[in-house]
Amino acid sequence: MRKKILAALLATVLATGLFTSLGPAPAQALDNGLAKTPPMGWNSWNIFGCDIDQWKIKGMADAMVAHGLRDAGYEYLTMDDCWQAKDRLPNGELTWNKERFPDGIPALSRYIHSKGLKFGMYGNPGKASCAQIYRGYPGRSGSLGHEYQDARTYARWGVDYLKYDWCRAELNGVKGEQGFALMRDALKATGRPIVYSIHYEPEQPIPDWYPEVANLWRTTGDIFDSWFSVAGIAMFTLPIAHHSRPGAWNDPDMLEIGNGGLNYAESVSHMTLWSMLAAPLMLGNDLRSMKPKDLAIVKNKLALRVDQDRLGQAARKVKGFPQWVLIRPLTNNQWAVSFTNFGATPKRISVTLEELGLNGKWKFKEAFTGRSGMVAEELAETVVAHGSSLYVLSKVK
Ligand code: GAL
Repeated sequence: MRKKILAALLATVLATGLFTSLGPAPAQALDNGLAKTPPMGWNSWNIFGCDIDQWKIKGMADAMVAHGLRDAGYEYLTMDDCWQAKDRLPNGELTWNKERFPDGIPALSRYIHSKGLKFGMYGNPGKASCAQIYRGYPGRSGSLGHEYQDARTYARWGVDYLKYDWCRAELNGVKGEQGFALMRDALKATGRPIVYSIHYEPEQPIPDWYPEVANLWRTTGDIFDSWFSVAGIAMFTLPIAHHSRPGAWNDPDMLEIGNGGLNYAESVSHMTLWSMLAAPLMLGNDLRSMKPKDLAIVKNKLALRVDQDRLGQAARKVKGFPQWVLIRPLTNNQWAVSFTNFGATPKRISVTLEELGLNGKWKFKEAFTGRSGMVAEELAETVVAHGSSLYVLSKVK
């Protein structure tokens, strides 16, 4: 069913030819000084869903450090839905599920901070969380009517990142912009720097108010662990890539690398496309049992250099489907160029300097093979099915 819906959506995007950037970005970005580059970290949802507890979260903190992920830039460790107690405290304060977090959220937050990481949590503008609506998780822990109180609680717990998820809040009379802006203001009033990540539905078109309200916003429904989902999300996000800029980012959802549903080539493409899109990089797998090959992909220096570039300008399409050539300007007069082969057989992909709009002499380095050299007339490579190549081009004087 899900596949059918995605296929239909995909067909619509293809038919309408919405593959190029559509002009200048609107509105000022939220001025909280945060997320000047796309946030990086880990989130519990893709791998654990509702099944989280303090031991798993601490294990992830340990693994983030042990695997060098923190040092590579993955700093926010975010606990998604299903941390909440069924009821608020008598004074109306939010509190945690005592079986899952017997030592309490403040202690967990201290642990995460002691590892040099930052702490993220999950909340909702309506009466209930998604898991409380769709998965039978007990309680009604949404922030409606408690926004300032909950923001103060988060700040007191040492929260550095809040994922605020719509989840049918319209059923409780909440209006999108007002609901999300209320928590933005409540977070600001705490005086604690807290990255603000929102998920409104439907995710597109991107309303003008997003950048003034949030540091990042979801561009599609939930990702799942398959090439079909990764490719579909990239296709839905590229046409709106121009909305991203420092402090305000499109969020095509968390990574699935390491969860088993993507082969090596597809994992490389996932990392390449997210880096070209200047996407937040939230790992979504069990870091304790991460394979060296997957670790190498998510720690790839050149891919991270592209993703985290301080210009914060996401890619646009130069040509192609089912083979994409994308280009993204970088600081230091460099450019990122990517090839992605969405087809099911290997394909030779090429692009000339002229097609890229580049004059003069350029050298290239490819991120995942380490291949480097001068760009002659064209950049060309045979790319395996579902695979990608990611190049950084530097000018030769
Ligand atoms: C969804 C959201 C997921 C996850 C889930 C939790 O709305 O897109 O990323 O947060 O809710 O229930």
